Amino acid sequence: MTLTEKAGAEKASEENAGTEKASPFRVRSSIDADIDAMLAIYRRHIRLGVEEGVEDSGVPEPSDLRDRRKNLQDRRLPHLVAVDNGEVLGYAYVVPFRKRPAYRFSVKHSIYIRHDQRRHGVGEALMNALIDACAASGFRRMISYIDADNAASLALHEKLGFSRAGLLPGAAYRNGRWSDTVLIERSLGHGSTTPPPPLPLSKM
Ligand SMILES: CC(C)(COP(=O)(O)OP(=O)(O)OC[C@H]1O[C@@H](n2cnc3c(N)ncnc32)[C@H](O)[C@@H]1OP(=O)(O)O)[C@@H](O)C(=O)NCCC(=O)NCCS
Repeated sequence: MTLTEKAGAEKASEENAGTEKASPFRVRSSIDADIDAMLAIYRRHIRLGVEEGVEDSGVPEPSDLRDRRKNLQDRRLPHLVAVDNGEVLGYAYVVPFRKRPAYRFSVKHSIYIRHDQRRHGVGEALMNALIDACAASGFRRMISYIDADNAASLALHEKLGFSRAGLLPGAAYRNGRWSDTVLIERSLGHGSTTPPPPLPLSKM
């Protein structure tokens, strides 16, 4: 078991300790065999979020996801899944926040939990594991954008120490109305209180 897997598994079991429905899921790095399940989760969320008649060209093919996953992991960018008996319950990953080298210590994350597995602590365990894995990789800040209507995600991130850094009014248009987007962030490790080490991220 890798450090990431251990962190996720320990947190998951800590969080489930004492609750009636102790879930045996664990968090580990994603592998190629997880891709179909991850895509199914993603497609379901995207289908629910897209209005009828509007084409969405952003849904990846399995080969895209395979390449992206490998590329991220090669660059020490965590790409994690929560699994129970070989079934993928959800996944979470980070990409560079921006491509310019000055931003190399900041990452942007995404998380998706299987529809029928929400509200069982999977999102919290995955996010905790992602935060630990990003800190261990030397990143200093995690950033994400959340639709202002997404109460579940806003509450999850608030619980895990993310702060609201800004509001982007009317950044999205769906179902006949404009929606705001919330910019959230959280520091990792020493955050911006100390300079970063010259290595190991200088080659990113
Ligand atoms: C947001 C999401 C990741 C939450 O995952 P989850 O596994 O259901 O969350 P958990 O069960 O671990 O809940 C952890 C905390 O999140 C918050 N939360 C989760 N779902 C919530 C809901 N429906 N309403 C309010 N708060 C909620 C709570 O603070 C909860 O802590 P609590 O159980 O002590 O109240 C999940 O709903 C999801 O995948 N949504 C669709 C995709 C998405 O929005 N991704 C984030 C984009 S930035």
